[in-house]
Formats: sequence, C-alpha cells, structure tokens
Amino acid sequence: MDRYTAAVLTASDGVAAGTRQDKSGDTLQRLLEEAGFTVVERTAVADDQARLAAVLGRWAGDARIHLVLTTGGTGAGPRDVTPEATRQVIDKELPGVAEAMRSESLRHTPFAMTSRQAAGIAGDTVIINLPGSEKAVRECFAVIRPVLRHLVDLVCGHTAHGA
Ligand code: MTE
Repeated sequence: MDRYTAAVLTASDGVAAGTRQDKSGDTLQRLLEEAGFTVVERTAVADDQARLAAVLGRWAGDARIHLVLTTGGTGAGPRDVTPEATRQVIDKELPGVAEAMRSESLRHTPFAMTSRQAAGIAGDTVIINLPGSEKAVRECFAVIRPVLRHLVDLVCGHTAHGA
C-alpha cells in the first residue's frame, strides 16, 4: 500500500460557504503531489473547533491517511481555532515543526509571528497546520518538505530513529 498518502483540510468560513475560492488548498494539494504524496481526501470546513476536530479525528483514524496538512485558521482572530482543533486530536506535539515554519517565515514577513500553527501525531498520522494565504502555504511547505517523508516513515514505524 502507498505509504505517502495525504489529506488537505482548508479551515475557512468563506471557502466552506462557497463564497471564496480555495486557492491555498489547491496549492497545498499540488505541492504535496509534486513531493510524491497521493492526496486521498480533501475538504473545506468553517472555522469551528468542533467541526475541524471531527474531520481531523476521522482522518487520523483512516488507515489510508498518513499525513494531514491544514491551511488557515492559525492566526490571532476570534474565529482562528485550527491549532486548538489539532491539539484536541493529537497524542504528541511536534513543536519543532511548527517552530521551524514560524522562524523561517520571519525571513518573509514579521507577521509570521502571529501564526499559532501547531503540529503533532495522532495515532499513525502526522498533522501539520499551515497559515491561510497561498503565499504562506508555499513558504511554509518549502520548510517542511525535506522532512515529510521521513516523518511519515517514523510515525508508521518503518524507519529507525536517526536513519
Ligand atoms: N507565514 C508565511 N510564511 N508567510 C506569510 O505571508 N502570513 C502571516 C502568518 N504567517 C504569513 C505567514 C499572517 S499575515 C497571518 S494573519 C498568520 O500567518 C495567520 O494566518 P491564518 O489565520 O490565515 O492561518
């Protein structure tokens, strides 16, 4: 079975309502495919913690999905709850993954420090939050791309630590 499978979740009231195009979701899917992942699920959900956590929990329990990338809802606004939904479903945090994206992003914009993006492991699925803009998705994906396959290998138990 293909181990490098992924799902893309867009957290956005506008996209979920159909009033906004899901450009960052499209970009994330394309970047994942270019990195050798098969995107097996994709959806957009309103900025609602319970609804986001429900999708994340369902995908984490789906044997076909080993990586979930989210876009949006990481900021300081009242409706930004993607990190909270993520923490609701993960067993372990991957703080270094989120920190690396934030610190590299500061090269591009000081507003990177306003993103509360989180990352962690739920069962044998890695979940990583990216901010909502297409530009931020491209910049953050470039940071995590070199470790994505290795992370999935580790979480699935296929690679020894340090290999
Ligand atoms: N990170 C990168 N790499 N590039 C960006 O342009 N934008 C920031 C930040 N992180 C940005 C970034 C901005 S303007 C915001 S408001 C926060 O991400 C949160 O975005 P979100 O609420 O859409 O997730």
